[in-house]
Amino acid sequence: MKNWTRICRVDDIPRLGARVVRRTEGPNIAVFRTATDTCFALLDRCPHKNGPLSQGIVYGERVACPLHNQSVELATGCMVAPDVGEVRRFDVKVEDGAVYLDLPVTADRYAYG
Ligand code: FES
Repeated sequence: MKNWTRICRVDDIPRLGARVVRRTEGPNIAVFRTATDTCFALLDRCPHKNGPLSQGIVYGERVACPLHNQSVELATGCMVAPDVGEVRRFDVKVEDGAVYLDLPVTADRYAYG
């Protein structure tokens, strides 16, 4: 069963950019918006050396990490070959212009920033 949690409006996320969902426990989550307004969510940690993916450059449905420029597929969280690695992804839905994430049911508290 999904635990859809409203995060923000699509328009709150810059096109080809990201916003961060901060968690009291566990790494933050980066929510990305593509040029065509599709949204994706990944842990804000690059599989390579934990760079902040939210500060990367979105192109197509990928993000280039700001630290060493390796790319991650936004839909899967997998690094683009020849690089290897994977970061956790979260399901996202958009309804009436609002972005919802399927977040784990925990005692965690979330803050959108
Ligand atoms: S930490 Fe992301 S490419 Fe190195």
